[in-house]
Amino acid sequence: MTQFDQLFSADRAHFMHPSTHAHDHASGALPGRIVTGAKGIRIEDHQGKSFIDAFAGLYCVNIGYGRTEVADAIYEQAKKLAYYHTYVGHSTDTIIELSSRIIDWSPKGMKKVYYGMSGSDANETQIKIVWYYNNVKGRPNKKKIISRQRGYHGSGIVTGSLTGLPSFHQHFDLPIDRVKHTVCPHWYRQAPAGMSEAQFVDYCVEELEKLIAKEGADTIAAFIGEPVMGTGGILPPPAGYWPAIQKVLKKHDILLISDEVVCGFGRLGSKMGAQHFGIEPDLITVAKGLTSAYAPLSAVIVGEKVWDVIAQGSQEHGPMGHGWTYSGHPVCAAAALANLDILQRENLMQNAAEVGGYLQQQLHSAFDSHPLVGEVRGCGMLAALEFMAHKEERRPFDAALKVGPRVSAAALQHGLIARAMPHGDMLGFAPPLVTTRAEVDEIVKLTKAAVDEVASQVLKESAAA
Ligand SMILES: Cc1ncc(COP(=O)(O)O)c(C=O)c1O
Repeated sequence: MTQFDQLFSADRAHFMHPSTHAHDHASGALPGRIVTGAKGIRIEDHQGKSFIDAFAGLYCVNIGYGRTEVADAIYEQAKKLAYYHTYVGHSTDTIIELSSRIIDWSPKGMKKVYYGMSGSDANETQIKIVWYYNNVKGRPNKKKIISRQRGYHGSGIVTGSLTGLPSFHQHFDLPIDRVKHTVCPHWYRQAPAGMSEAQFVDYCVEELEKLIAKEGADTIAAFIGEPVMGTGGILPPPAGYWPAIQKVLKKHDILLISDEVVCGFGRLGSKMGAQHFGIEPDLITVAKGLTSAYAPLSAVIVGEKVWDVIAQGSQEHGPMGHGWTYSGHPVCAAAALANLDILQRENLMQNAAEVGGYLQQQLHSAFDSHPLVGEVRGCGMLAALEFMAHKEERRPFDAALKVGPRVSAAALQHGLIARAMPHGDMLGFAPPLVTTRAEVDEIVKLTKAAVDEVASQVLKESAAA
C-alpha cells in the first residue's frame, strides 16, 4: 500500500466532503484527487500530474497559487497575535487597516465593514441586518427577500433559500417562506421566443413588479443579486438590466444587496460589479477575492443609510445581538492586506480587463460556430460555454447524456480544470487574475480538444440510436 492508498482509504472512511456523492465516494466508485501543491495557475496532484486551474479553485485564488508574500504575512501575524476577538469595541491594527482599504475599494456611500468567514455566513448576516433595519424603523411586516432563479448566495438555511437552484432546496424543506424568486436574466435561455434583449429587460422588470404587487411592497425588505450570476451558469445581465431593476426597488423602498462574492476585487476587470454596471447597492457582500482564499474571510459592507438605522437601533435597544467568534480574525486580515497589496501593485484588475477581454475574444472565435456550442458568454475573467442539441431552436441536450460533465472530464484528461456548472450543460471558466495571454491560448486550445472529442462521441451516439 502506498502512502496515497492509505490516505485515500482514510479519506473514504472519515472525511465527509461538500457537494459530493456520499455513497460513491465512500465506496471508492468516485476516485477523488489529493492535491499536493500549486504554483501560479497550475495545481499538482498525488500522481504528480499538473493541471491548469482555469477555475481558480472555486473562483477564488485570484492572485494565483504559491504567493509566499501572503504566507509570510500570515506567519508574522500569527507570531505577533494569532487571535483576539472583536466584541465590545476590541480591535487589532490589521482589521482596522483592512476596513479602511475595503471602504476605499467600494463604491461611494459605503460606511462600515462587518466580517465573517464565508460568503454564506456573510449573506446570513445581510439578511439579519435587513430584518433588524425594518424592525428598528417600525416596519415589522417588511421582511421578505427577493432573489432570482439560478442565483447563488450560499447554502445555509436562509442563504440556501436565496439560492435559486432546486438542488439546494430539495430534501432540506427550503426555501423558507420569506424568500421569493423572480426571473433569471438570461436572455438566451429564459426569453420567450422572438423577444429582443431590450424587450427581455422590460419583461424582467414587469415580472418583478408583478411579484412585488402580489406580495405587497410593504412586505418586501430587500432584493439580492450577483452583478454577473456565477454558479447558476456565469450569466452576464442584458444591457440596461441593473438600472431598470434598481428603479423599481427605489420606487418601492426595497434595499439592494449586491452579492459580490465572485465579482468583487477585480474579476470583471473593475473594482466590483457595482461599479461595472452602475449599481448603487445599500449593502455589499464580498469573500473569495478578498484573501484569494489564502485564509477564510468574508465581509458585509454596510452603506450609510443602513448604518444610520443600526446606530439608532443600538441607542434604543442596546447592542445588536449578532456576532461570530472569528469575526475580524487578525490572521485572515493579514492575508487580505497582503492579497490586496499584490492585487494593486500588479494591476490585476487591469489584467483581468485586458486578458479577460482576450479570453472572451478567443472563446468566441473558437466556439461561436461550433456545432456543440449554443452560447459563448462572459465578462472579464469569467466565461462559459453552453452546449445545446440545437443552437437556433435553443434546444438543450437530454440531461442524461451529461454533455457538460463529459466535456469537463475530457478537459481534465488534457490537463485542464474547467467547471461543469451544476445547472445545465455548461463549462465555466474563472481563471486566476494573473493569467497571461499565452496561458489563455493554452486554455482555449485544450478546451477545443475536449469539446471536439465529446462532439464526435455525441454524433456517433445519435447516429447509433
Ligand atoms: C455569489 C456567491 N455568494 C455566496 C457564496 C457562498 O460562499 P461560501 O461558499 O464561501 O459560503 C458563493 C459561493 O460560491 C457565491 O458564488
